[in-house]
Amino acid sequence: MKVGLLGLGTVGTGVYEIINHQRGNYFASSKQEIVISKVMVRDIDKKRKVDVPAEYLTTDFKDIIDDEEIKVVICVMGGLEAEYNYMIQSMKRGKHVITANKAAVSEYMDVLYKTARENNVSFLYEASVGGGIPIITSLIQILRINQISEIKGILNGTTNFILSKMSDEGWDFEETLIKAQELGFAEADPTADIEGFDVSRKLSILSSMSFGFHIKDEDIKKRGIKEITSADIDTINDMGYVIKYLAHSKLEGNTYYATVEPVLLSTKDIMSNVNEEFNIISINGDIIGELQFYGKGAGKDATANAVVGDLMYIINADFRKQEIVLDQQLENGGIKEFSGK
Ligand code: NAP
Ligand code: HSE
Repeated sequence: MKVGLLGLGTVGTGVYEIINHQRGNYFASSKQEIVISKVMVRDIDKKRKVDVPAEYLTTDFKDIIDDEEIKVVICVMGGLEAEYNYMIQSMKRGKHVITANKAAVSEYMDVLYKTARENNVSFLYEASVGGGIPIITSLIQILRINQISEIKGILNGTTNFILSKMSDEGWDFEETLIKAQELGFAEADPTADIEGFDVSRKLSILSSMSFGFHIKDEDIKKRGIKEITSADIDTINDMGYVIKYLAHSKLEGNTYYATVEPVLLSTKDIMSNVNEEFNIISINGDIIGELQFYGKGAGKDATANAVVGDLMYIINADFRKQEIVLDQQLENGGIKEFSGK
């Protein structure tokens, strides 16, 4: 099984290490040889954190799309239009696609699903929400039986890292953001993290899948965290509260709301104790009630684990199971436009 990798930054490096350097259990015991045989980057001469044979590296997508032996394309480049187009082209050429790109999934999930179906390939995006938390797979499992009416959580590692370090260790905003970038948590343009676009894209994905109509990032009301000062945090803590950056969406009849904003929580609230790059996601289903998912929401290994988990689905041909709910939605006319208010 040959795999093409688009991007060799934080996530791509983790994916390359697990697959080609055989980190982890599966590869030690697997009889099937899996290899990333081509890696697309922007700058071929850049010093890399992982050893990659020079002949694997390319800046030309044709080297991946035209390679008939490559059956899966892993998209961890970032950005929107370019990577979206590479995903569509790959599926049209019969290649399965795996991505961590929430911007592309949030904006184009309807076209991406449809293209996957028309070409009988898999389109998987576990790493796009919650880093290492298997939230997409779990959500699909829950959706087989439940109507989900509410989603709430901390969905961004960078801003949670910033708010916890400012609160617990007295760091200032700027120095904490730089540290989050060094640790590989932040987006290439960290504005997406601190102004709320990264969270609203993730909430868009979870809400669209759960509610059955396409809620786009621009439909979500958001407030960023960059105006929050150390003095604000001290006052909030003195009052006995903790400030957290929360995503929240709720379906009520033919109405929904979806917001991303800093919220004051009591210290008794479980979400107030989620710190650093960790995320928490609470889902409410009509049969199962409330479920909570907790884990590392950003960073190399956690995210790469989610990406390679998707690859395992494809390799084990289990991916059809994961797509049943999405198939049903497509049979009913796809992810629809919202027709309520
Ligand atoms: P990153 O560190 O900035 O790496 C991006 C990689 O893509 C780099 O190797 C870069 O090449 C390559 N690239 C960018 N634009 C390109 C282009 N036009 N043509 C060819 N190569 C290009 O990003 P990352 O943190 O790994 O994130 C990748 C994706 O995963 C993003 O969609 C992000 O939202 C998502 N994600 C990230 C995390 C995380 O914790 N970091 C978690 C979940 C999801 P060069 O190296 O040559 O510059
Ligand atoms: N920048 C994102 C975050 C990466 O900090 O949560 C994980 O999606």
